[in-house]
Amino acid sequence: MPKQIILAAHFPGVNNTTVWSDPASGSHIDFASFVHLARTAERGRFDFFFLAEGLRLREQRGRIHDLDVVGRPDTLTVLAALAAVTTHLGLAGTLNTTFREPYELARQLATLDHLSAGRAAWNVVTTSDAFTGENFRRGGYLDRSLRYERAAEFVRVARRLWESWPADAVVGDRATGRYVRGADPGVFAHHGDQFDIAGHFTVPRSPQLHPVILQAGDSPEGREFAASSADAIFSRHGTLAEGREFYRDVKARLSRYGRTPDDLKIIPGATFVLGDTDAEAQERAHHIRRQQVSPQTAILLLEQLWNRDLSGYDPDGPLPAEDPATDAAAVSRGRAGMYPDPVGTARRWRALAGEKGLGIRDLVIEVTGRQSFVGTPQRVAEQMDHFVQSDAADGFILVPHLTPGGLDEFVDRVVPLLQERGVFRTEYTGTTLREHLGLRAARPVTRVGAA
Ligand SMILES: Cc1cc2nc3c(=O)[nH]c(=O)nc-3n(C[C@H](O)[C@H](O)[C@H](O)COP(=O)(O)O)c2cc1C
Repeated sequence: MPKQIILAAHFPGVNNTTVWSDPASGSHIDFASFVHLARTAERGRFDFFFLAEGLRLREQRGRIHDLDVVGRPDTLTVLAALAAVTTHLGLAGTLNTTFREPYELARQLATLDHLSAGRAAWNVVTTSDAFTGENFRRGGYLDRSLRYERAAEFVRVARRLWESWPADAVVGDRATGRYVRGADPGVFAHHGDQFDIAGHFTVPRSPQLHPVILQAGDSPEGREFAASSADAIFSRHGTLAEGREFYRDVKARLSRYGRTPDDLKIIPGATFVLGDTDAEAQERAHHIRRQQVSPQTAILLLEQLWNRDLSGYDPDGPLPAEDPATDAAAVSRGRAGMYPDPVGTARRWRALAGEKGLGIRDLVIEVTGRQSFVGTPQRVAEQMDHFVQSDAADGFILVPHLTPGGLDEFVDRVVPLLQERGVFRTEYTGTTLREHLGLRAARPVTRVGAA
């Protein structure tokens, strides 16, 4: 029996993949766009719909990075609305633990799980920049180890809150006039370093008990956190070799927590470009990369590495001769830590540009993005299957470059081929997202009530 592929649909928005300028591109904020993508994913029997999170518009040279304006409405509100127009599709939201409070978020996610009859998922992120923190923590921020400490405690507290109502607590017995069983459903107390809270949780137990927990973070701390606490990882490791290495590394960590490899699914983000022939798909891929990296965008992306004002450079001309400014204030705010070794990276880029005779824009196109799967529907289905069967992933979060119609062609042309190969469902067999993902039903892990 081959492994079954997990498929999720990323609503574009907060990323560099979106091409808003294409004539086929629609609104990134109208509800109709969300509905279109979600219903297309559900028509394709996808596991879940996914929203990333970006809580502050990045700035470059003191001005907002205007691509960021595309697609940043509030996650939970969008997912709640989508619960009403879908029936099986999981609904996953990226929601950080650094700037939120567990009582509030646990309540919102339990509510989403109720509204959707067991389809809620939470992608736990810590976020990587202090800049976003200015919106929330009076300018304060947490360093990495504290962010993960807070995240781990946050998830523990959220689980305690979700478990605080016994499964059979709501009886609604008209004869005796008793609505709830037991003295104190929902009672909780938690006294920890990050949170010190007590009271009664207001939302009775939700269908999945714990909404599915995804995690996106790549450092050793992030991987360890995922191994101990997550049901799935949204990863960046999109090549076969890197994917296999990451898969092996993370799955090996699970036994330390009494978990098995099947308890944690690995789902990298992936893009795709289809064509009637491989050559046509390659041509489309090339065209899309040029749409994604306009002349202005090429300069902005180059500035993120060089950390200098490069607005006077010709996008078709050579790369700057001087090295990146490493000790100056960052010209780009909100994208911290993208390039751990700017000088080394700049030298490599210059060498590549020299070798291939590339100007700035062509070089940026070459080094900043890569479509994961390009080819005929047959080739793409075959490659995705190979990726999963070789343990480089358990599935993919697909990131279409067009909103809202970017998934249509995949659902119409690739999904049937995956189904023919016997590696993707033809009908939903369960109702909850845990069931779609092949995860065991959640069991209570915290001691109800006490800290
Ligand atoms: C694939 C992937 C997707 C991510 N998506 C988001 C996101 O949507 N919003 C966000 O605030 N952070 C996002 N992050 C950042 C993580 O929350 C985390 O802060 C960052 O990766 C630094 O943690 P690390 O050092 O463990 O990787 C993402 C990270 C990865 C690897």
